[in-house]
Amino acid sequence: MSSPIPAVVLGGTGYVAGELLRLLAGHPRLRVRAVMSDSQPGEPLAAAFPHLASAYGDDRFQSQEQVQALLAGEPSCALFSAAPHGVSAQLIDSLLAAAAQAGREPRVVDISADFRYRSAGEYERVYGHAHGAPQRLGQFTCALPEHLAQLDTRHVAHPGCFATAVLLASVPLLRLGLVPPQLFVAGITGSTGSGRKPTAGTHHPLRHSDLYTYSALAHRHTPEIAACARAASGVAAEFAFVPHSGPFARGIHVTVQARLERSLDTAALLGLLREFYAGSRFVRVLDGAPRIKDVTASNNAHLGAVSDGRTVAVMCAIDNLTKGAAGGAVQWMNRMFGLPETDGLTAPAPGWT
Ligand SMILES: NC(=O)c1ccc[n+]([C@@H]2O[C@H](COP(=O)([O-])OP(=O)(O)OC[C@H]3O[C@@H](n4cnc5c(N)ncnc54)[C@H](OP(=O)(O)O)[C@@H]3O)[C@@H](O)[C@H]2O)c1
Repeated sequence: MSSPIPAVVLGGTGYVAGELLRLLAGHPRLRVRAVMSDSQPGEPLAAAFPHLASAYGDDRFQSQEQVQALLAGEPSCALFSAAPHGVSAQLIDSLLAAAAQAGREPRVVDISADFRYRSAGEYERVYGHAHGAPQRLGQFTCALPEHLAQLDTRHVAHPGCFATAVLLASVPLLRLGLVPPQLFVAGITGSTGSGRKPTAGTHHPLRHSDLYTYSALAHRHTPEIAACARAASGVAAEFAFVPHSGPFARGIHVTVQARLERSLDTAALLGLLREFYAGSRFVRVLDGAPRIKDVTASNNAHLGAVSDGRTVAVMCAIDNLTKGAAGGAVQWMNRMFGLPETDGLTAPAPGWT
């Protein structure tokens, strides 16, 4: 039997970290060795995640110093960062630097926004603060595994939750030249997309039984989506993106619309999408409308598409915490360690949540 590969999770008490721990509990090769918490080192994992108590027993959150010592001792390690943007880059940088001093080179998937841009200037324009480790930007590739055959960097930046859904729906349209480079996107996200700490604008009681837009045509992830789409398709496209707050905890639904370059009926469009994603185990192209409930808590993405001959609409449903964050990160890490891309990710959605 092959030996376990140690895994470390940063951003320990957050929602994405919790989802990573849930997925890794069932992973055949990756074994959680440390979960770093800035705010609660020494506290039991089960206090932050009671639903994971059966998998993690008495395990406790560790400090940065403990994680550093662990990384120095492990010949190879899978390091996941679910820390916030603005924190993640610096944390990864200091852990990698300390590991390098001990001759160790962990592989990293950063789920924050910190390594999604090619240059610190682009990052700083969007996020309004200096980048935490600009010298490491070239060590990261920001892409979906479905859209990149060959990874040329040591580390990966996860594109993010809204971006995952928008890219899955729009990259085939752009790469196949079916539409001009102007896409109109409406996206709806559940409340876990805003993280664990409630704020006046994101608290669930406010969102519950309601639907409203926010940051319309000005969402900070839009330039990341455009950059990622360009890298994946070779087309510099404009995305007019209107995000919505949805009255549910998990899930994202996006609709991408564009004019067609040539007339194409729905059946032909679905055929092209199926061909495009033929090798992608987690992407399913449906005849009907994708629904969040069918993908919640799974790494699956459901796509649907319609055409009236002039305009196309492609819909995508994912779970923001799974395919849009932790699951997508595990998928990348599997590939980085030469494991089957589906390891730990094959559980279907529960269907009723
Ligand atoms: N939620 C989503 O659907 C989603 C999807 C894609 C990407 N992301 C990205 O994934 C990351 C985690 O998201 P999340 O929703 O899990 O956020 P979250 O629930 O707010 O958790 C983030 C965690 O990071 C740690 N943290 C917070 N401030 C810190 C600081 N100043 N220094 C060190 N650690 C700090 C905290 O855990 P400790 O105090 O225990 O360390 C916190 O619980 C973010 O970068 C987010 O943008 C989220």
